[in-house]
Amino acid sequence: MADNSIHTDLFSPTTLGKIELDNRIVMAPLTRGRTNEEGVPNELNVTYYVQRASAGLIISEATNISAQGRGYALTPGIWTEEQVAGWKKITEAIHVAGGKIVMQLWHVGRCSHVDLQPNREAPVAPSAIKADGKVFTNNGFEAVSMPRALRTDEISGIVEQYKHAAECAKRAGFDGVEIHSANSYLLEQFLRDSTNHRTDQYGGSIENRARLILEVVEAVTHVWGDGRVGIRLSPVTTEVGNTPLDSNVMATYSYLIQQLNKFKLAYLHFVEGTTGKSREVPESVDLDALRSLFDGAYIGNNNYNLDIAISRREEGKVDAVAFGRPFISNPDLVERLRCGIELVNAPNETHYGNGEKGYIDWPKANYFHVESSCSKP
Ligand SMILES: Cc1cc2nc3c(=O)[nH]c(=O)nc-3n(C[C@H](O)[C@H](O)[C@H](O)COP(=O)(O)O)c2cc1C
Repeated sequence: MADNSIHTDLFSPTTLGKIELDNRIVMAPLTRGRTNEEGVPNELNVTYYVQRASAGLIISEATNISAQGRGYALTPGIWTEEQVAGWKKITEAIHVAGGKIVMQLWHVGRCSHVDLQPNREAPVAPSAIKADGKVFTNNGFEAVSMPRALRTDEISGIVEQYKHAAECAKRAGFDGVEIHSANSYLLEQFLRDSTNHRTDQYGGSIENRARLILEVVEAVTHVWGDGRVGIRLSPVTTEVGNTPLDSNVMATYSYLIQQLNKFKLAYLHFVEGTTGKSREVPESVDLDALRSLFDGAYIGNNNYNLDIAISRREEGKVDAVAFGRPFISNPDLVERLRCGIELVNAPNETHYGNGEKGYIDWPKANYFHVESSCSKP
């Protein structure tokens, strides 16, 4: 029988900071809209995550750090005791299955709708600039609402929201947390001069625009310690909200990444290109050069397939690779990649808010005919 197993160290154990992984295939954060109005994870969510526990690391779907941080209906939260208890069932089940899971901490900033905000208040942002995009509400996708600029005296409260969420995630039994500083949500809105027109100490210079991210990283690493906090950045994405790039991507992100080295993070995680759309980057940007400024481990993501993953790994450009959409419809993605088994594509309609359908009903492959080194019991 042919040897279907693929030889690369992508399927061998590694560590990201203090988090030990069975393999270098990471499940990227995927919002699926299968929680309830209160943001409390349920049994369906437990089943979904456990089905994918053979990933070296699962990064949870983006999880709201507060009621104000919410921009999409049916997304989970991590600021109430009920939410902590719901997540605990997931982390315990993942650990029993031999997997690892970190929580992605999320504040959407301007990417929200008044229907999703407490008392139908305006979403908050660095500046009152509306995104050109839609969010998933209880009435389907709707255009985002006009945000209001945060007052300077409110910003310590945002850092406090991250700190509280980080503490809750710790009590919920996660292996670590990932700070969501990508895809044009609140933290990236502060970083980019296209979305931040402030004149206080959180706007203007690169140092000022990076200040909130660094304050959040400091607060969260204070809760979690060394090697348990990762960060996701997307230097050249225009997703979501058709957000323009920073006017000097290399200077802005170089400064940020060099500052991040002070914190002994578990990893840096990049969306390489335009999220879910393209791996292309503008000519003036060199993502590998940015990545190389970081002292710790690196996760690459965006439109990877196995060939790209193997060659980027062989070139020493990535420590691990995160797959998003392939994990939706291939719960056993690691085994399928390792054994060269064809992948199933998930139609877009299955992505958000449809209950069990298109969520926990994707079968594992039939390993009966596959080389024994690949076969799964
Ligand atoms: C349905 C769906 C939900 C997503 N949710 C999140 C999320 O919660 N947090 C995040 O940082 N990115 C999110 N993304 C982006 C993915 O993590 C990933 O960057 C993107 O899909 C590109 O990777 P892929 O080509 O392997 O799918 C989402 C993408 C999709 C398709």
